[in-house]
Amino acid sequence: MTVYQGGLLEVTSVRKRFGGLHVFNDISFTIPPGEVLGIIGPNGAGKTTLINVICGMLAPSAGSVRLDGREMTGMPLHAVSRAGIIRSFQQTNTFRAATVRENISRAVRFSGGGEDTWATIAPLVDEFELYPQLDEQSDKLPYGLQKMLGLILAFAVRPKVLLLDEPAAGLERRERMRVDSFVRHAQTQLGCGVLIVEHDMDLVRRLCPKILVLDSGRVLAEGTPDDVLSRKDVIDAYLGTADEEAA
Ligand SMILES: Nc1ncnc2c1ncn2[C@@H]1O[C@H](COP(=O)(O)OP(=O)(O)OP(=O)(O)O)[C@@H](O)[C@H]1O
Ligand SMILES: [Mg+2]
Repeated sequence: MTVYQGGLLEVTSVRKRFGGLHVFNDISFTIPPGEVLGIIGPNGAGKTTLINVICGMLAPSAGSVRLDGREMTGMPLHAVSRAGIIRSFQQTNTFRAATVRENISRAVRFSGGGEDTWATIAPLVDEFELYPQLDEQSDKLPYGLQKMLGLILAFAVRPKVLLLDEPAAGLERRERMRVDSFVRHAQTQLGCGVLIVEHDMDLVRRLCPKILVLDSGRVLAEGTPDDVLSRKDVIDAYLGTADEEAA
């Protein structure tokens, strides 16, 4: 089975404003191939906007995004996707009227993949119990399976970097464990870097050796989950409410 090679994501001093609203300022981090970075922070902290800036949906007001040293800043979404930076959505990202199989085929075609790509996807389709649903229209699937399909579609384009916006939101405990499998699979099969935005602190602890806390548009803390999640300023800014949400 083919094993692919991910890319180095470098985010340098990015800033985003909407008119007078400063969403974030001077955010920098790198994600080497095969590594996972968690980003947490209260509602409205700017996490989704940051993903939108990295994937090319929005232009940053300042700063740069590079993939393997290549400037992505200012490139449109489709060009950044082609280069290998792929996002999943906080909701779902399937072509709703198409079947599960058609959705996956489109994603495979997008990246010029073929049988070898299907072979890397098949274990996920099996594990997520999507085989019986291959000819089902994707918007008829239960919510949890739609989210899993969204992850598989992101995987199917063989990204170099994956940006996951709340992959576990709205899922039951058993389904959340599938997100773990998915991320491990992306690391080992694609070698890709993964950015995970999540409110589920158990998932963050399991999957992210390093995390970054966004608060009021800046990086409040970064480091290992053990170090960061025990800090009083982080608990005050965020954790009291986050654990309630994830429960
Ligand atoms: N297109 C836009 N135009 C104007 N303001 C926006 C736009 N998109 C986001 N914002 C604002 O930017 C801020 C950050 O929003 P964002 O969705 O990035 O937060 P978040 O950290 O993802 O929150 P959540 O945890 O609730 O998903 C909010 O104040 C939001 O209203
Ligand atoms: Mg968000």
